[in-house]
Amino acid sequence: MPSPFRRLRRPPTLDLDDIQATLLRARPEPYFGTHAILEITDPAAGKELLRRLAPRVTSAARWDEPRPSWLALALSYQGLVALGVPQQSLASFPANFRAGMADRAARLRDTGPNAPDRWEFPFGSPRVHVAVSVYAATEDDWQREMAEYEQELGEVPGVHLLSYQDFAADGFNVFGYRDGFSQPVVEGSGAEPLPGDGRPIKAGEFVLGQASETGVPLPVPVPDVLGRNGTYVVFRKYHSHVAAFNTFLHDNASTEAERELLAAKLVGRWRSGAPLALAPERDAPAIGEDPNRINDFDYAADPRGLRTPLGSHIRRMNPRDTKLTVLTDVNIRRIIRRGTSYGRPLPPDRLKDDGRARGLDFIALGARAIDNVEFLQSEWVGSGNFVGLGKEKDPLISSQGKGAYFTVPGTPPRRVKGIQSFNTLRGGEYFFMPSLSAVRWLST
Ligand code: HEM
Repeated sequence: MPSPFRRLRRPPTLDLDDIQATLLRARPEPYFGTHAILEITDPAAGKELLRRLAPRVTSAARWDEPRPSWLALALSYQGLVALGVPQQSLASFPANFRAGMADRAARLRDTGPNAPDRWEFPFGSPRVHVAVSVYAATEDDWQREMAEYEQELGEVPGVHLLSYQDFAADGFNVFGYRDGFSQPVVEGSGAEPLPGDGRPIKAGEFVLGQASETGVPLPVPVPDVLGRNGTYVVFRKYHSHVAAFNTFLHDNASTEAERELLAAKLVGRWRSGAPLALAPERDAPAIGEDPNRINDFDYAADPRGLRTPLGSHIRRMNPRDTKLTVLTDVNIRRIIRRGTSYGRPLPPDRLKDDGRARGLDFIALGARAIDNVEFLQSEWVGSGNFVGLGKEKDPLISSQGKGAYFTVPGTPPRRVKGIQSFNTLRGGEYFFMPSLSAVRWLST
């Protein structure tokens, strides 16, 4: 199984002691953990919370001692307000972050079953203030750390736990696909690019205050101690309809081999992780297990999508060298993904829903993460215009209407009908992930 950890061979130039681990280091695999949402009802209590958590927030320099496990912390705009952050500073954050995810539903195309009025509490309410995530490589480490945090945080009056989500997985998501390994390499992070990763992307695309792809840093919230080395986080909780997905495959393919090929066409990769670009006709699990080969491809030899459909999930989300009908610099549209799966996977032969909660907490990080997810959702997920597919949407993550279809290019092309909404959004929020020095600054 490929480790999501990249070898750290290059001398780091970023201030790793000050940057949170989640931004620069892949989560463990397998992983266990909890995402918690907290509310601050009194600024002094909020500062006390941060004072207690500050020594535990894990940096990118020491995330794996003694074993990979860490605590990550992020604040929504309402959380910064609840902490009593000065107005001048609040005003220096970008408008979409200040508005919050629910307010941006139209741009994100979060309508119908995905609309904020259908979300789970506390998402969409102004009470979502702090997100705390604990990641661990073993169940024992996770439970031990959680017991410590519960004891310590339970004692802070004026801070309330509104919701939490436990998660665990072995690297495969609830649909059975290997997930989370195609990531941009951040210049200066010390990570060694692997074949197919492309050149490292300028750190400022991910870490506030560093030079970006355009040469200048993106706007950094003030004061500098608050903004520098921080980043933005987009959190979206999806409930997955795996039985409906399995049924769709059964309705449109008659043998297991055909079903697996259709499953691969929808994503652009076999469930093993092997990309169709390298394994167009049958699965090659050895490629999925080889970090040197799993991302070592582009789409130059496949302009029509005969191997990897133009509308497949990974080709939409990172078109690599695909000729786009609407010009875009793909290097500034990259996001770091740290999503986690919750609930038990449902095997491909189960066509009836068992009523259990399962899905994915999608987590994107980067200095442009909010703009980029808004862009991806509206242009590359919710439409097909950018690759000449008209109104066709992402087959995996869109909310689909009646008559939705997915095109598998070929001679003749095949229009697979019956695509449904295989994932429903249950809530989400935009957060700011401060540096370690900013957490200390916020706590005083
Ligand atoms: C339940 C929701 C989702 C599921 C099940 C899902 C599944 C997957 C899978 C199986 C892969 C291939 C593994 C990999 O390349 O690491 C992938 C890649 C990717 N997904 Fe998703 N995804 C979901 C939501 C999203 C959302 C909401 C976005 C962005 C708006 C997104 C963006 C991406 C990107 C950027 C890649 C990497 C593509 C590449 O670099 O080739 N995904 N996803």
